[in-house]
Amino acid sequence: MTDVGRHPRIELMTLSEVVDVQGYIGNFRVKVLRKARYVDEKECTACGDCLEDCPVTKPNEFDLGLSTRKAIYQPFPQAVPAAFALNMEECLGNNPIACGKCLEKCEKECIDYDMQDKEVEIKVGTIIVATGMDVYDPTELDEFGYTRFENVVTSLEFERLINAGGPTEGHLIRPTDWQLPKRVAFIQCIGSRSEKRGNPYCSNVCCMNTIKDSLLIKNHWPEVEIKVFYMDIRAFGKGFEDLYKRSKAEGVMYIRGIPGDIREDQETKNLFLLAEDSNTGKVMEHEVDMVILSIGLIPSTENSLIRQLLTLSRTSDGFFMEAHPKLQPVDAPTKGVFFAGCAESPKDIKDSVTQASASASRANILMSAGKFTVEAITSLINEELCKACGLCARVCPYHAIEFDKEKKLPARVIEASCAGCGTCGAECAFDAVVMRHFTDQQILGQVEAILEENPQDKVVVFACNWCSYAGADYAGVSRLQYPPSIRIIRTMCSGRVDEKFVLHAFKLGAPIVLVSGCHFADCHYINANRWTQKRVEKLWDKLEKKGIRPERLQLEWISAAEGLKFAKVMKEMEELRQGVTLEEIDYTRKEL
Ligand code: FES
Repeated sequence: MTDVGRHPRIELMTLSEVVDVQGYIGNFRVKVLRKARYVDEKECTACGDCLEDCPVTKPNEFDLGLSTRKAIYQPFPQAVPAAFALNMEECLGNNPIACGKCLEKCEKECIDYDMQDKEVEIKVGTIIVATGMDVYDPTELDEFGYTRFENVVTSLEFERLINAGGPTEGHLIRPTDWQLPKRVAFIQCIGSRSEKRGNPYCSNVCCMNTIKDSLLIKNHWPEVEIKVFYMDIRAFGKGFEDLYKRSKAEGVMYIRGIPGDIREDQETKNLFLLAEDSNTGKVMEHEVDMVILSIGLIPSTENSLIRQLLTLSRTSDGFFMEAHPKLQPVDAPTKGVFFAGCAESPKDIKDSVTQASASASRANILMSAGKFTVEAITSLINEELCKACGLCARVCPYHAIEFDKEKKLPARVIEASCAGCGTCGAECAFDAVVMRHFTDQQILGQVEAILEENPQDKVVVFACNWCSYAGADYAGVSRLQYPPSIRIIRTMCSGRVDEKFVLHAFKLGAPIVLVSGCHFADCHYINANRWTQKRVEKLWDKLEKKGIRPERLQLEWISAAEGLKFAKVMKEMEELRQGVTLEEIDYTRKEL
């Protein structure tokens, strides 16, 4: 952080919030709200004179409330810049009757009560999202007694307790009597790896954090007895297994089982943990002086706002989704945006540094090239046909279509932002959107070619390039059989499938039409397949109103890895096709 603060080409904006982002790769305009510090950060040397007379005392957030701070304070000892900040909401103010004491004390006259927040706009070519993470709050898991027993602390609170700069200056104490605990228990996976209690994912860092803490305790206080209650120990990083073995060799006991209950002896404040060791099958009660809950990581609360500002998508666990998990692991689906650290998933320091370096390099490659090659498959607006309704702009997952509601001018595609999903083309009711390489004429032409002869024997399948079509490919290379009646039309995304393609297929005598794409959250174009679902649902209603069985239009989500599912679904489609009568097909042709 100090290096960043000193770097001549890095402008560090502390106490600042991003409030708006406009533009696209190479041309982002970012509005930043710079909050008033009320202290001149260039003059302040953090001497601490102002603290002496400040009458306000508040819990210190950095020490998780285990110590206190004043209304004027340095957020944490290594903060950059090394200057104080005044919390105006807590300060009694510059009124000699009310207070104004810090101002009197500061010889360098750094304090300015009249400082104002200000908004600045900066132009940037690329953006790296590094919003970090928050930690799981174990309050809801009442059986562990976090809110009932003082000697139950979280792993983060424990970190502060044993930190040399923390509230106890690094002395291990148990909170009720400030004595060195003789028996300590760690409970793993609090808020992690559980569908019902916390989050289903592994938080990645907790096992190694406990191993590190156990070694730290053993190094300083070898007499302390340590028990670790766990489900599995995940020590898969470089050198991690060695640390795990070392901690065992130092006498740390690992018990495979999570306690179901903790109770406290009201007099001694000792804690009793009831747990089954699944290695031996024995249920035992363990008496300890202090319990440390190894809490998991959760997505930062900032993520919702950043997601909206940058049009990002999130995976079901709330972390940001990368453009591709294997091939573009640090790129966001929005071009010119990258991820670093826990914004994307829980990770330790080493992985965060690795990812941050990768993101910086990815951003740098773009910036040094000075130009950017746009996709060949982008959409184009035919201004003569455009009625300026704005529907295309509404469905674009990338906000790549500019549309002025008031002036009612034709829409305009920002090609640098367009990723080529084609959702805009499927939404436009006036045929004003031309999707390069996947035009209406090209797709309708394929439908016609498929159904030219014996249409009653064919199943028309619209498959998105990234998942369902890749699933078909996988079924092929796996030599899985599926019926020869299946005819596939590839689109880049299922969001490209226009209602008129489906109706045209039925009009030409197709017994069954299948629209198939990626599972939700897997769509290569953020969430374009949500619009697929809406369109298919609308079509089901439409078909029903016309007396056509809606089941003749099917919707399936098949991933690239689901070759088996692809073959199975195709067999089901063939069965459905066999159930469609020639009378039904004739009726449909006349109705549409
Ligand atoms: Fe497959 Fe969007 S890319 S559904």
